[in-house]
Amino acid sequence: MKFEIITLFEDIIKGYCAQSIIKRAVDENLIKVNTINPRDFTEDKHKKVDAPPYGGTAGMVLQCQPIFDAYESIEKEDDFEFIMLTPQGEKFNQKIAVELASKKQIIMLCGHYEGFDERIRIGLKPREISIGDYVLTGGELPALCLLDSISRNIKGVLGKEDSAEYDSFSEGIEGILEHPHYTRPREYRGMKVPEVLLNGNHAEIEKWRKEQRIVRTKQRRKDLLEKDKNI
Ligand code: ADE
Repeated sequence: MKFEIITLFEDIIKGYCAQSIIKRAVDENLIKVNTINPRDFTEDKHKKVDAPPYGGTAGMVLQCQPIFDAYESIEKEDDFEFIMLTPQGEKFNQKIAVELASKKQIIMLCGHYEGFDERIRIGLKPREISIGDYVLTGGELPALCLLDSISRNIKGVLGKEDSAEYDSFSEGIEGILEHPHYTRPREYRGMKVPEVLLNGNHAEIEKWRKEQRIVRTKQRRKDLLEKDKNI
């Protein structure tokens, strides 16, 4: 899987990808992360990539030329998805992360300033994705959210012990929250690990965990259970 991220702030992407599980995935060649800076493509003599909007209002708008040229410089695989990060897009979720994990190449376009010249949408026809109903200062954090959640659904990225199958919202237990976890010590500040987890009876442990998943989902996200007919 190749991620190509068009961004004015390459170090944000590089910094994240140099840590933890994503770093290991890069080192083991399970994913490749490449950044492309539109500023390297601008034909403006001052290297500008943005301009004030026609019709007025505050802020600056990303211009077509550097974005079109940056996008067109990327060698496309036969099975790629081109995504624009924008609060106006379809809302991202685990189902989309799993779907995108089967692609060979994901190209992501990060915005900054007030937004994109509309002709970038019209001309390049990206799939527009939002990570939630709030506005960030740029598309880099959303792009990293996608990169991270897509990557952990690629075979080999998580260790054997640490499967994505039981993640909250994952396909394995579609749309319900995870059970609580405990580790050593057995007692901390008077709070005890539930007895059932200590007795080694795996059938009982699994039964308890399933109940906890349902209780927790009922308490926190009733809307998920209403959608799920299998529980
Ligand atoms: N860019 C700014 N805010 C965003 C959001 N919520 N989702 C995706 N891209 C964005």
